[in-house]
Amino acid sequence: MDIQKALDKGKGKVSIKGWVYRKRKQSNQVFLIIRDANNVIQCVIEKESKAFEDATKVFIESSIEIEGDIQKEPRAPSGYEIKVKSLNIVHLGEPYKIAKDFSVEFLADNRHLWLRSRKMTSIMKIRHTILSAFREHYTNKGYYEFTAPVLQPTQCEGGSTLFEVKYYKDQMFLSQSAQLYSEAFIMGLEKMFVIGPTFRAEKSKTSRHLCEFWMAEMEAAWMDLDQMQDDIEELLKHIVKKVLQDNKAELEILKRDISKLEPIVKKKFKRMTYTEVLDFLKKKENMEVPWGKDLRTVEEDNLSKNFDVPVIVTKYPKEIMAFYKPEDPKEKKVALCLDVIAPEGYGEIIGGSQRDLDVKAMTKFLKAEGEDPKNYEWYFDSRKYGSVPHSGHGMGVERVISWICGLDNIKDAIPFPRTMERFKP
Ligand code: 4AD
Ligand code: MG
Repeated sequence: MDIQKALDKGKGKVSIKGWVYRKRKQSNQVFLIIRDANNVIQCVIEKESKAFEDATKVFIESSIEIEGDIQKEPRAPSGYEIKVKSLNIVHLGEPYKIAKDFSVEFLADNRHLWLRSRKMTSIMKIRHTILSAFREHYTNKGYYEFTAPVLQPTQCEGGSTLFEVKYYKDQMFLSQSAQLYSEAFIMGLEKMFVIGPTFRAEKSKTSRHLCEFWMAEMEAAWMDLDQMQDDIEELLKHIVKKVLQDNKAELEILKRDISKLEPIVKKKFKRMTYTEVLDFLKKKENMEVPWGKDLRTVEEDNLSKNFDVPVIVTKYPKEIMAFYKPEDPKEKKVALCLDVIAPEGYGEIIGGSQRDLDVKAMTKFLKAEGEDPKNYEWYFDSRKYGSVPHSGHGMGVERVISWICGLDNIKDAIPFPRTMERFKP
């Protein structure tokens, strides 16, 4: 049985399987704390027991099976203890590598082992909840799950961060976003979401950037920017609510202050235009940002520290936006787009927009970026045959995990991080 089942039973005979998490030897007793995927339990082996010799032998992370009687023990980590009757070493192994050195570099080199730690398993459980909650939100609304190609012949988010791949005699790129394919797909099924790996050759070494990350995207026909803001607010509320419900124990292990997460579920999000953000920064933070410049980390942080909910910033300058973000017909110098800035300085967690339907305007932008519009003809076809207004967004999965878990670095939000400097193991 798993450890949680044994704990739930609380009394009588139990048998568990797991790994040695802690070991303490006294002259006439050995205390082992055993862990499995979901919990830990203290086991005590008395000197008279035939299991004593084996218990003295095991290493941290040896895998073992134990049988015995469970009973209440307030001093033990989960409030119970197993008095061991028999112990079977499944694999003794070697003295565990992660013993004294807990430096960032050492743990990164041994990521494959560090994933067993309570910190990492807690984060990975929350990652699971976040991905499930995203799927649930859109499935409940009748969206179809889509999968996009990872090898793509063009850029989507600018040529400077593309990873090139040799593809027989041609050149391809690793996906920067599923979006262009999603837009073709919704002309059939109207509403879809896609969760997939995303690649950006980021040159910045920050605590927020990965070169390989997961993006959870949605695209919907007939949707406009205002409707998308409502949807995003509902989505993030659902995700945070689910984590607060399902991951109490993990948030506690991570020492996450949940009073910082509660307002997300209860309060309305802040909504501002880019131009309003500049005014706000000037008045409130004494920060002068020239109109037309993109918001950098400092500006985002100075904005977000004023609110305990995410801020949805809309209508950035059209000139600095990706080619598919349309100009606002009411105010041509801005685009119908949005970024969601997380609280507590976690930066941009979602980027999205209404999609441009004007092939000429997009062609002009692509040319200015040095792209050959011919490569986008298939994409323009969605504007040629029964074009409809539509919108979509992409959520940075690891950014949301970092924020919800309160991590110092985005690297811990993904099992095996890929950054400019780190790509092993
Ligand atoms: O804002 P981005 O670039 O938007 C898109 O790619 C759109 N095509 C998505 C869409 O509309 N379907 O990226 C979306 C999100 C960002 O808001 C950020 O949270 C995350 O992806 N992101 C990164 N996360 C980790 N490391 C990086 N290098 C990231 N770059 C973007
Ligand atoms: Mg963005």
